[in-house]
Amino acid sequence: MSARSAADSVVVLAAGQGKRMKSPRPKVLHSLCGRTLLEWVLDQALALEPARIVLVVGHGAEEVERSLAQHPARARLHFVRQEPQLGTGHALQCCLPVLGADPGRTVVLYGDMPLLRAESLRELTATQAEESAQGRGGLALLTAVFPDPTGFGRIVRDPRSGALLRIIEDRDCSALQREIDEVNLGVYAFDGRALVSALPRLKNDNAQREFYLTDLLALFVAEKRPVSSVELLDIAEGLGVNTLEQLAGARAELQLRILEEHLANGVYIEDPATTYIDHGVTIGAGTRILPCTVIRAGVTIGSGCEVGPFTQLRAGTQLADGAEIGNFTECKNARVGAHTKAKHLAYIGDAVLGERVNIGAGTIFANYDGRQKHTTTVGDGAFVGSGTVVVAPNELGARATTGAGAVLTKNAGVAAGEVWVGVPARRLAPKVAPKDAPRS
Ligand code: UD1
Ligand code: MG
Repeated sequence: MSARSAADSVVVLAAGQGKRMKSPRPKVLHSLCGRTLLEWVLDQALALEPARIVLVVGHGAEEVERSLAQHPARARLHFVRQEPQLGTGHALQCCLPVLGADPGRTVVLYGDMPLLRAESLRELTATQAEESAQGRGGLALLTAVFPDPTGFGRIVRDPRSGALLRIIEDRDCSALQREIDEVNLGVYAFDGRALVSALPRLKNDNAQREFYLTDLLALFVAEKRPVSSVELLDIAEGLGVNTLEQLAGARAELQLRILEEHLANGVYIEDPATTYIDHGVTIGAGTRILPCTVIRAGVTIGSGCEVGPFTQLRAGTQLADGAEIGNFTECKNARVGAHTKAKHLAYIGDAVLGERVNIGAGTIFANYDGRQKHTTTVGDGAFVGSGTVVVAPNELGARATTGAGAVLTKNAGVAAGEVWVGVPARRLAPKVAPKDAPRS
């Protein structure tokens, strides 16, 4: 293991259907702030810098594998199919051929826990490392004390010593055990060899007839292997996503973290409660984001810009410094030059706008002809009048002007400095400028 890495192997369990989601989509492919549940969990795995990450897939396996085809860590991912899905313990058993006899320190994560922070995981691996330094390898697991532990596996301890004994699943709890408020979060750091030797001994004598990974704790205790727990202090990190309601809760928490990061970087966000910014958005310091604004993954915003209120910036939008996009304006795949403004009621799709362009209220870039998307370019200093429709592909030169309500048919080709008006728009012959008032 490299000196820096906290785990040699990480296994992510992502084969379950997620029945409680009541959705045809595999649970781990549900989206939060512009990326899937699984991508959030992969970030946790990557933070431990393991040599390999094993992903157990089953329900919707092909779709899940496809979703990661472009992932930056793709080379380190090993997919294992679990078919049929006979429980979390069975999922790990399916990894045995990939793990081999000694997978080193192995962390197991569930694909439905997107809020765990890397620091908590590192504390867990450090605890497991301390244990093994003292002799036999064992396990460490993450727990939390929840005001409402319903649905979670409960941690059973020795009433006198407080030592860990076993985990009991919610469905298998007696009325008394159901009162226990310390829960299993489904995150474990194992000594690799101990894990590999214990896995084949799991049984399925429980309410669901499943092989529970959680039974490994009792097996390790019986073998007198060291076992310890790390309690999560910020219980918000421990939220698992089993229902759409929990998905919404997790999204809100991740959204808050994203907004806090931008605020810390000097981005003014007037009302975080009504601002939606996906993961993977870059915003320069000094930019103002006004309420009721949605900024999707992959958008880049320079410094000193103003976005909103009521604005949507979709994938492929790049705003240069000082650009202003105002209310009821949507940008998609649009490069907007420095100090260019579109302050009201516009659709800017598949467009490249130069610097200091003015886009009037009600301007539409008609980028789609029913079959294909086309691009429009607008030169520096152009003035697009209110209610202009620009049918793409098209090109407006620098300082070109369109009159209010102009409809530029495709490839109209407005040259630099020209004025076009009407429906369909025609070039207005230039007036002879009075000698004493030259055009600026
Ligand atoms: C599990 C734990 C429970 C813990 C809770 C924390 C077990 C038996 N129980 O319960 O103690 O409190 O997580 O959130 O482990 N999966 C597979 N293959 C399967 C079954 C599940 O890969 O055959 C995956 C799922 O895709 C999911 C994860 O394992 O990502 C957990 O499964 P889930 O059904 O959500 O378990 P919980 O009931 O939440
Ligand atoms: Mg779960």
